[in-house]
Amino acid sequence: MASKLEQRSGLSVSPDSVLITSGSIQALDLVNRIFCQPGDTVLVEQFTYAGTLSRLRSLGVTPVGIPLDSDGMRTDLLAAELRELQAQGVQPKFIYVIPTIQNPEGSIMPEGRREQLLQLSGEFGVPIFEDECYADLLWDGKRPPAIAGMDSGNRVIHCGSFSKTIAPALRVGYIVAAPGLVAQMAACKDDGGTGALEQMMLAEYCQTSFDNRVADVTVKLKHKLDVMNEALEEHFGTSADFVMPPGGIFLWVSFPDTVDALELAAAAAARGVAINPGPDWSAEAAAARSRIRLCFGNPTVQAIREGVRVLAEVCHDEFGVPLRSGNVERCPKTQAT
Ligand SMILES: Cc1ncc(COP(=O)(O)O)c(C=O)c1O
Repeated sequence: MASKLEQRSGLSVSPDSVLITSGSIQALDLVNRIFCQPGDTVLVEQFTYAGTLSRLRSLGVTPVGIPLDSDGMRTDLLAAELRELQAQGVQPKFIYVIPTIQNPEGSIMPEGRREQLLQLSGEFGVPIFEDECYADLLWDGKRPPAIAGMDSGNRVIHCGSFSKTIAPALRVGYIVAAPGLVAQMAACKDDGGTGALEQMMLAEYCQTSFDNRVADVTVKLKHKLDVMNEALEEHFGTSADFVMPPGGIFLWVSFPDTVDALELAAAAAARGVAINPGPDWSAEAAAARSRIRLCFGNPTVQAIREGVRVLAEVCHDEFGVPLRSGNVERCPKTQAT
């Protein structure tokens, strides 16, 4: 793990700073368990991983969303929120960010903004929880260092996973944190241990094959994204707005305001097409009323083409969007950097 993190994430760690977890989901659970009590506040990106939001809410913790732009969480608005909460006597427990392939927007936070985040974390005494589970899936492999790798004050807890690069069924993830925190979290790990057999196989596999696997899977994923882009342009035209991400397994799509994503998801499911409705991925449900998250990791290219075609039919039937299916105005999409 230490050499992988050093090579790929610019993160120098000693083995006693690493805790292997049962997927990065368990990393989220352990961090919540150490830091949070009912009634607490956690700062998150306005649109973020649905599993993080549901976990925080089920613990009685309030996730407060900070708006995003094409560089990820907006640090000017984060600073304003931190000041506002301070004035109310509220100390957030941590700032949860997905800086490399933000889920669901797909952006990469540049190094300068990572520095600003660290500076705010120090100024307000609020730790950063950095989730990098998609960081290996970059089309060109280029990325800024992990925030944890830029931190000199033990302010960052970092987590990642092999679910997205190798297989979700492996259930091997990890946390990197100060050794004292790792020891506290290890004491809370009540699953009887993350499967050792899987870890042994993974360790052997990674020594020879991880880099090739990542190179291979990213080419395939990029191709699937291109197919999804083409299908959306063909069937939705200008009704579907999105930015092509520089990596990952998902696309965050906005529709006109008339589209209700929760109703669309139910109607599409009835026709055999699964989508993620935006409200589940938003700190404030209303902010993502007309957005959806589409995953291209698992389906075949044929399923992607057919799924988008059926989705456009359903969306047209339910909301009149796109205006006339099969005859849509096209516009080329921008590429994120
Ligand atoms: C941002 C983020 N963090 C964590 C997870 C959990 O993944 P796993 O437990 O399979 O590592 C996911 C899964 O989709 C995710 O998107």
